[in-house]
Amino acid sequence: MLAVKTISQSIFRNIGQTPLIPLANVGSGALKLYAKLEWYNPFGSLKDRPAYWMIQAAERQGLLRRGESIVIEPTSGNTGVALAGICSALGYQLEVIVPKRVSQETKAILRALGAKLLEADDDLCPRVGAGTDQAIALANAIVKGRPGKYFMPNQYENEANFRAHYETTGPEIWRETNGKITHFITGMGTGGTITGVSTYLKEQNPSVKVVGVQPQKNHHLQGLRNLDESLMPDLLKRRVSVVDEKVTVSDAEAFSAISLAARKENLFLGPSSGATFSAALSLADRVRDGEGGVAVVIFGDSGHKYWSIFDEFGVFTKDEFERLRDGARFVSKPLFLDAVSNN
Ligand SMILES: Cc1ncc(COP(=O)(O)O)c(C=O)c1O
Repeated sequence: MLAVKTISQSIFRNIGQTPLIPLANVGSGALKLYAKLEWYNPFGSLKDRPAYWMIQAAERQGLLRRGESIVIEPTSGNTGVALAGICSALGYQLEVIVPKRVSQETKAILRALGAKLLEADDDLCPRVGAGTDQAIALANAIVKGRPGKYFMPNQYENEANFRAHYETTGPEIWRETNGKITHFITGMGTGGTITGVSTYLKEQNPSVKVVGVQPQKNHHLQGLRNLDESLMPDLLKRRVSVVDEKVTVSDAEAFSAISLAARKENLFLGPSSGATFSAALSLADRVRDGEGGVAVVIFGDSGHKYWSIFDEFGVFTKDEFERLRDGARFVSKPLFLDAVSNN
């Protein structure tokens, strides 16, 4: 068993301000592609931003008492990892409701960051990204049972999830492209990223086109949600008009984009980044000269946590995985990395 990491509050300064890099070796000539590398956040994904914003908002509203309150959230992914790191730095216990079949890597990371795992039967949270509705009901029941003790951020409804991206990711992208962005491509899970960033960008320039990426039904792309098989989260519903085009990407397309990114750009993408990259490439194919511009695609996390998925779907051999983990461009070491490599 790994020792729980002690995390200093200075870590919060490192949330956001992630690099925007050109993808020079792929795409058409007409549309210049840039990627926002969200794995540079301290806990390794775009979810550090909303997790921190939701906890700060709850503190401001007096909903949390350090050393006493328990934060509870049903999540099998990056929000749990981000909340675990943030809660441990601030002195809150975190309980996460995870489906039993969540990968050992994810469970090890959550435990190493000090979270208590409540493992729910898989039929309460049947598929990654879908079926979280029942897990939310379970968390609600626990919160109701001990009022005042628990706080559930509920990223699917919490306006602070939207605000995190409206106040940070959106302005960063606008500044970093010198206001030249014409297309924005991102995945849809809770909808926090797409609504937050796009609302900000469209306020600066209403003609920015927004492409929302959803996975196929019954998918394996952690963090994304197929809106035909699961309910549209309230957060997305509130501002869904910012999405100009919805693109569905299959597991196979996402995995093939991950291996293309490794070959052509020497980048190490996680599954949701594979999906957004695939959608960005097909957009670049469709854009004709004269309609071109500057497209920004969000890479939500890196491949570090996903060996078991890559292995199952034959995306990488162990050698290729290790070479990318250690030698890809722009690899940033997330704080939980020891938990994965010692697993
Ligand atoms: C890696 C990754 N990409 C994309 C998303 C989707 O982002 P959002 O929930 O803001 O819609 C998530 C959500 O968990 C994620 O973990």
